[in-house]
Amino acid sequence: MTTEKTAPRVALATCSVLPDLDPDDAPLVQALADRGVDARAAVWDDPEIDWASFDAVVVRSTWDYAVRRDEFVTWAQGVPRLLNAASVLRWNTDKGYLRELEAADVPVIPTLWLDPERNLSSRAIHTRLPAHGDFVIKPVVSAGARDTGRYQSGEAYSRGRAIQHAKNLLVSGREVMVQPYVTSVDTTGEVRLVLIDGELSHATRNKAHLTVPHHPTRGLYPDEQLSAFEPSAEQVEVARRALQVAADAVAGGDPASFLYARVDLVTGDEGTPVVIEVELTEPSLGMAHAPGALDRFADAIAARV
Ligand SMILES: Nc1ncnc2c1ncn2[C@@H]1O[C@H](COP(=O)(O)OP(=O)(O)O)[C@@H](O)[C@H]1O
Ligand SMILES: [Mg+2]
Repeated sequence: MTTEKTAPRVALATCSVLPDLDPDDAPLVQALADRGVDARAAVWDDPEIDWASFDAVVVRSTWDYAVRRDEFVTWAQGVPRLLNAASVLRWNTDKGYLRELEAADVPVIPTLWLDPERNLSSRAIHTRLPAHGDFVIKPVVSAGARDTGRYQSGEAYSRGRAIQHAKNLLVSGREVMVQPYVTSVDTTGEVRLVLIDGELSHATRNKAHLTVPHHPTRGLYPDEQLSAFEPSAEQVEVARRALQVAADAVAGGDPASFLYARVDLVTGDEGTPVVIEVELTEPSLGMAHAPGALDRFADAIAARV
């Protein structure tokens, strides 16, 4: 008797506005087919999909979750073989994890956190905003710069807009982050190191940045200006340390258990790398900008099914 092995089935989770995936991820379907894996795009909130029928579900362009994070995390918990795992997504979809990085001495952008439960008055918010330079107001749950705004501390009008922005987020129950605006984002750009199975695969930089006057409800991801980037040893080291903190928090200390990770860095005032975000949920990987990246990612997925 011969037993023919059927091809493993993989779902690449996306959102309803990108039912055929983001253009950077779309070539994965063929790359996986070349490895004997039957992959297809699947919209994460499509009630018709039987997630348990897949050998793995890989989270990709699920970029509409930010306004309904609870629903997204609940969905993740119901998917049996999710990559990255639901516990990772729950930890990573709230930027409160930056406090854990800071506690572990990983450099992060200095952040002031505004708690919605404190019912802060406009005056109380005003006193918490920086006295110098530009600053950023953003919610702890966001993706693609959604609801993120850049303001000028010395301009009364801009400061007033910032207070209103913070209040709007707080009254809807969202925790708010206040950060100094890091100007390297305008010059060098934001550097993104992509790690597959915990190992550095490639890096890109993104030169899209926030402008004043801001439009806090408009996302930046349509404006991404990505190019290939060769990271310094110091940047790689900070990215590894950041991923180790994440692994200690939610992966039994093993960074290799993350199928994918993207660590976003900016350059702080001392000229050294500083973490802006660790993306273990739905990072765009910029594979088109890095020869071999698509093959590495497809190999890593194929090895897990
Ligand atoms: N403190 C900051 N200084 C400079 N730019 C910032 C700062 N915070 C956010 N930004 C800009 O807003 C974008 C989105 O912020 P980020 O923290 O990466 O959240 P997300 O990507 O999850 O929306 C960044 O890519 C960057 O361009
Ligand atoms: Mg980001």
